[in-house]
Amino acid sequence: MSDKKVVRAGITAVAHFVPDEVVPNSFFESYLDTTDEWIQSRAGIKERRILRNGATSDLAVPAIKKLLEQRGIAATDIDMILVGTVTPDMLFPSTACVIQEKIGATNAWGFDLSAACSGFLFTLETGRRFIESGAAKKILIVGADKMSSITNYQDRNTCILFGDGAGVVLLEPVDEALGIRDSILRIDGTGGEYLHMKGGGSLNPPSHETIDKQMHYVYQDGKAVFKRAVIGMADVSAEIVERNNLTKNDIAFLVPHQANLRIIEAARERVGLTHDQVMINIDRYGNTTSGTIPICLSEWSAAGKIKKGDYLVLASFGAGFTWGSILLRWAF
Ligand code: COA
Repeated sequence: MSDKKVVRAGITAVAHFVPDEVVPNSFFESYLDTTDEWIQSRAGIKERRILRNGATSDLAVPAIKKLLEQRGIAATDIDMILVGTVTPDMLFPSTACVIQEKIGATNAWGFDLSAACSGFLFTLETGRRFIESGAAKKILIVGADKMSSITNYQDRNTCILFGDGAGVVLLEPVDEALGIRDSILRIDGTGGEYLHMKGGGSLNPPSHETIDKQMHYVYQDGKAVFKRAVIGMADVSAEIVERNNLTKNDIAFLVPHQANLRIIEAARERVGLTHDQVMINIDRYGNTTSGTIPICLSEWSAAGKIKKGDYLVLASFGAGFTWGSILLRWAF
């Protein structure tokens, strides 16, 4: 029998950053045919944050600086930077490269990963494999999006939903009993027609026509996405608990992507958790895409609500479609 030690990847620090500017629902009431009551009851959002000047890296860098200080390490200690985002500063160079330069992580390599609202989960799973294989010891997993850069503020169907923000976790090898235990990650390209941004890529390079047709904004068929998200996120949340022979009593927190309070509620009910067992901040930040899950982790960790050894279920659903869940035990 092999006595090779299992290397587990665990979250050993977490931080987040949201811009100061608050945009309440009353802002949309002032020029669109919508109401605070509609937005709160249909989506669960009261306000969101907007970054006026700057890019996605400007959301990520303050979060990373806080994390490095908290963990007591230097940027030069970082081996890899992985960035989940659909709003990179530029198509290239990658936002990972931009961040690497801005923080001075001169020993790191890395890349961006595109999975929309599942960006953080897909990036976390990727980082996990580099830690487990021994190829890296300290990885920054960044979930950051400046959604205001691709939001059409004349489209009441989408503009009320999104906000800007970033979260980051540090992944390191941890005790065998802690860290990431399991993942279920899925994609289904037939969902592309319901949630996309068609302009700006190689299919529709920027032109006067793509601008006139407003192809550089998020398009969403909200109802179609809602129907799939409500089932998709609940299914993978329940499945990962069951296949690890755990019950609702073993789970400290469900950490769902924050797209709509009613989707979160369906996942909570499916796993059988109480309201206190679900991290929710959509009321304050809206949907920050890759940012939602690490921002939740950061806020709950800073408030001392997560204990070492706690089982957490992270779950998401987003454009692609992309969705999934990750089961982990909190490592610090
Ligand atoms: N204010 C008032 N009315 C609005 C509105 C707004 N801001 N936005 C849309 N509406 C209208 C629509 O025009 C539609 O009107 P119609 O029926 O006359 O065509 C109606 O409200 C739709 O209402 P409803 O069926 O209650 O919408 P919904 O329950 O689907 O909620 C969303 C809308 C967008 C909040 C919801 O569909 C959603 O959250 N979708 C999924 C989001 C998601 O998970 N994204 C995944 C990752 S980003």
